[in-house]
Amino acid sequence: MVRHALRLGMVGGGEGAFIGAVHRMAAALDGDWRLVAGAFSTDAGRNQRTGDALGLAPQRVYASFDAMLAGERALPEGERIDAVAVVTPNHLHAPMAIAALEAGFHVFCEKPMAMSVAEAEAIGAAAKASGRHFALAFTYSGYPLVEEARARIARGDLGAIRLVQVEYLQGWLSRPIDEQGNKQAEWRTDPARAGLGGCLGDIGTHAFQLAEHVSGLRVDSVSADLAIHVPGRRLDDDVSALLRFAGGARGVLKASQVAAGEENGLKLRIHGEQGGLEWAQMEPNTLTLRWLDRPAEIVRAGGPGLQDSTAALLRTPSGHPEGYVEAFANLYRAFAAAIRGGGDRWFPGVADGLRTMRFIEAVVANAASDAKWTMVDPGEKE
Ligand SMILES: NC(=O)c1ccc[n+]([C@@H]2O[C@H](COP(=O)([O-])OP(=O)(O)OC[C@H]3O[C@@H](n4cnc5c(N)ncnc54)[C@H](O)[C@@H]3O)[C@@H](O)[C@H]2O)c1
Repeated sequence: MVRHALRLGMVGGGEGAFIGAVHRMAAALDGDWRLVAGAFSTDAGRNQRTGDALGLAPQRVYASFDAMLAGERALPEGERIDAVAVVTPNHLHAPMAIAALEAGFHVFCEKPMAMSVAEAEAIGAAAKASGRHFALAFTYSGYPLVEEARARIARGDLGAIRLVQVEYLQGWLSRPIDEQGNKQAEWRTDPARAGLGGCLGDIGTHAFQLAEHVSGLRVDSVSADLAIHVPGRRLDDDVSALLRFAGGARGVLKASQVAAGEENGLKLRIHGEQGGLEWAQMEPNTLTLRWLDRPAEIVRAGGPGLQDSTAALLRTPSGHPEGYVEAFANLYRAFAAAIRGGGDRWFPGVADGLRTMRFIEAVVANAASDAKWTMVDPGEKE
């Protein structure tokens, strides 16, 4: 039987935007998705030019998000979009995701999930009530060797986990480019559009999600310091946090956007009783394992010894580097499989979003208080 591509509508991702174009490449990579509609920008010219460049039917390039929901709802079921990709700045995630879910569409939303735990819970409730799927773009959990690390820890290779170290270092906000017209920097340093955290919400959330996802452990309390290094900036540009995990493991999370000269230095190290592993995003096709009583091992994407769940995330033979877009595409593929109903592939969603929003709130509260440790609200189910 011919398998038809699912239809995607996008909000955000207009001319000059960063992540929308990555979503479009990722969604298209495996033929699961076809972009058919969009409200790409509040600037009418940019919106139109983006739609034209993508070859969309003019009537499906909408002047606003609300117009897109209404216009698509009015189309026959076999034509209207199946899902909305929300790739706008943070303050719009919750209202747009909730409206899309309530209109009957699945949602693939950018991180951080929302501006607060309360908003994230409202998205969770809307997803549940609508019976629609909600995916969250924690991109790094889509890398094959991240899955390899997770699976090996889950089957006990390292023994009980003792240490989790995660760092995410960028340097692009080392200067006040937010005041010099850089669009991406501008909203990221504005509390009204970014949320409670600056660097914390932008990349600290990636680091936190990766640490919990791969270790399989839950952080139960944090002791944190937030810094603003660039004068006049209103949100943190540098985060340091000690982590205490349920069960006794200890961790350190370092995230910074003023680590001058750094590109996208996300790195995870986890150690158990028997050994440790290391994965770094800028060398994503290598996983290093180190042992207490035998020589270190290098595991390579496409090489021998991979778990089935890792092999399923690869597209090319060993030695043909896969990276960011492919990792993103793995999330879109799992999301499509879930919508089609036969999918048992994992993708990040409401639970990951709630954990990271609770982490943001705990870090902000701890950094502002004299308390040594602040609990990360375990939520109802976690
Ligand atoms: N998963 C990742 O690795 C990753 C990487 C980068 C950004 N992000 C997230 O993606 C989101 C967007 O970040 P970015 O760097 O692409 O920002 P950006 O500023 O480059 O793009 C935002 C886009 O949203 C559009 N927009 C704003 N309000 C709109 C509205 N009301 N209707 C329609 N369009 C609207 C803007 O015109 C722009 O095209 C943020 O939430 C960010 O945290 C995630």
